[in-house]
Amino acid sequence: MIVPESFSTSRLFLRRSKESDAPAIFEYANDPEVVRYADWPRLTSVDEAQRAVERATRHWESGEEYAWRITVLPDDTPVGGVACTFEGHRAQFGYLVHQRLWGRGYATEAAQAVFQWMASLPHVHRIQATCDIDNSASARVLEKLGMRRDCVLRRWAVRPNLPGKPIRDALLYAWVREGLTTGPESDEVKGIDL
Ligand SMILES: CC(C)(COP(=O)(O)OP(=O)(O)OC[C@H]1O[C@@H](n2cnc3c(N)ncnc32)[C@H](O)[C@@H]1OP(=O)(O)O)[C@@H](O)C(=O)NCCC(=O)NCCS
Repeated sequence: MIVPESFSTSRLFLRRSKESDAPAIFEYANDPEVVRYADWPRLTSVDEAQRAVERATRHWESGEEYAWRITVLPDDTPVGGVACTFEGHRAQFGYLVHQRLWGRGYATEAAQAVFQWMASLPHVHRIQATCDIDNSASARVLEKLGMRRDCVLRRWAVRPNLPGKPIRDALLYAWVREGLTTGPESDEVKGIDL
């Protein structure tokens, strides 16, 4: 699989993280409104943002997760991100945008670029995303991408930035490739050893 280092859209440029991004990442990842429904704790220092950049690089190299920073052309400052993971025929993704820029269609535009690339990969038959049960803006983004709500995942995720760090329900959205689909050539099957 060839993973694009960047994506261009009409207004945005998505690119890999670089060290100098840490202060800009801290700015939005420290905002309680932005991280309200995140499943990771709010960043509290630029050093933490620096470590997040290093982690993103490690994950990219190992294939664990691919993340791109969102920049608004022609500025190179990150104002959000999109990230995705792959497991066999399934892909999963998430996104966030600086609060100052909410409501301009940026999350949809950025996520759409990554979504279209994932859907173009022949081995990907399902693309999914979850959002907190009360995260209506995120649910709307997924609907605008053409994804359908599969179900409610009860007690799905810890929300460490909400008071009491509750384990909350989430919505599961998915796109699936239509038509007859088959599994991989190899006989490798994942499962529990009964
Ligand atoms: C969710 C998020 C990424 C949306 O970013 P954005 O750039 O404002 O998104 P867009 O402008 O592309 O689309 C937002 C849509 O949600 C709608 N929306 C915004 N707030 C809403 C609310 N409270 N209830 C319902 N819809 C809402 C907008 O009207 C828009 O839909 P429309 O185009 O039909 O009018 C942004 O709010 C964010 O970063 N939130 C924090 C991080 C997060 O929750 N990420 C998702 C984790 S799954």
